[in-house]
Amino acid sequence: MKNLQILAISGSLRAKSSNTAVLQAASILAPAEIEIILYSGLANLPHFNPDLDCEPLPKEVISLRQQIKSSDAIIISSPEYAHGVPGSFKNALDWLVSSTEFPGKPIALINTNPRATIALSSLTEILVTMSAQIIKPANLTLDLAGKSLDAAGIVADKELAKSLNRAIALLIEAIS
Ligand SMILES: Cc1cc2nc3c(=O)[nH]c(=O)nc-3n(C[C@H](O)[C@H](O)[C@H](O)COP(=O)(O)O)c2cc1C
Repeated sequence: MKNLQILAISGSLRAKSSNTAVLQAASILAPAEIEIILYSGLANLPHFNPDLDCEPLPKEVISLRQQIKSSDAIIISSPEYAHGVPGSFKNALDWLVSSTEFPGKPIALINTNPRATIALSSLTEILVTMSAQIIKPANLTLDLAGKSLDAAGIVADKELAKSLNRAIALLIEAIS
C-alpha cells in the first residue's frame, strides 16, 4: 500500500464533539501507511468575504488550501444545526469555492446521527456544486447521538471500529 495523506475536517468546534471524536478514531484506526490529519484551523478562519479572496490571501486561508492540496482525500464529519451545515464549517467551504486545490478532491462523509439527514443532503449538494468527488461507498452513518464517546471509546467499540475501518478501506481503495 502506498503512503497516503487524508485531511479530516470536523464541522464542530465543540471540545467534546462526537464528529471530531469519530475523525480522531479514524486516525487511530487507519493503517500505518495512511496518515489521517485533523484540520485544526476552523475557528481561526476569517469570515469569508469575496473582497478578501484575492492575493495576498489571509494566512489561515493559505494554510487551509495548502492542507487540501497536500491531501490525497478528505474525510468530513459534520453535525446538523437547525437543519443546516454549521456556519463556521460552511465558512471554510466558502473559502474553498474559488480554490484550485478543491475540485476533484475525493471526499468521504461521516454522519454521527442517523436522524440528521437534512444537513447531510445539503452538504452533499454543496460539495457536488464545488466539484468535489464524493466517494459514495466510503460514506458512513454511525449512531453516536447521546453516547458521549471519545475517540478511545469509539475505537474500543467493536461495531463502530469495524464500520470505520470499512469506510477507511473503501476510501483508500478508491484513491489508490
Ligand atoms: C445550535 C444547534 C442546532 C442543532 N440543530 C439540530 C438539527 O437541526 N437537527 C439535529 O438532528 N440535531 C441538531 N442539533 C444537535 C447536534 O447536531 C448534535 O448535538 C451533534 O451531536 C453535535 O455535534 P458535535 O457532538 O460534533 O458537536 C443542534 C445542536 C445545536 C447546538
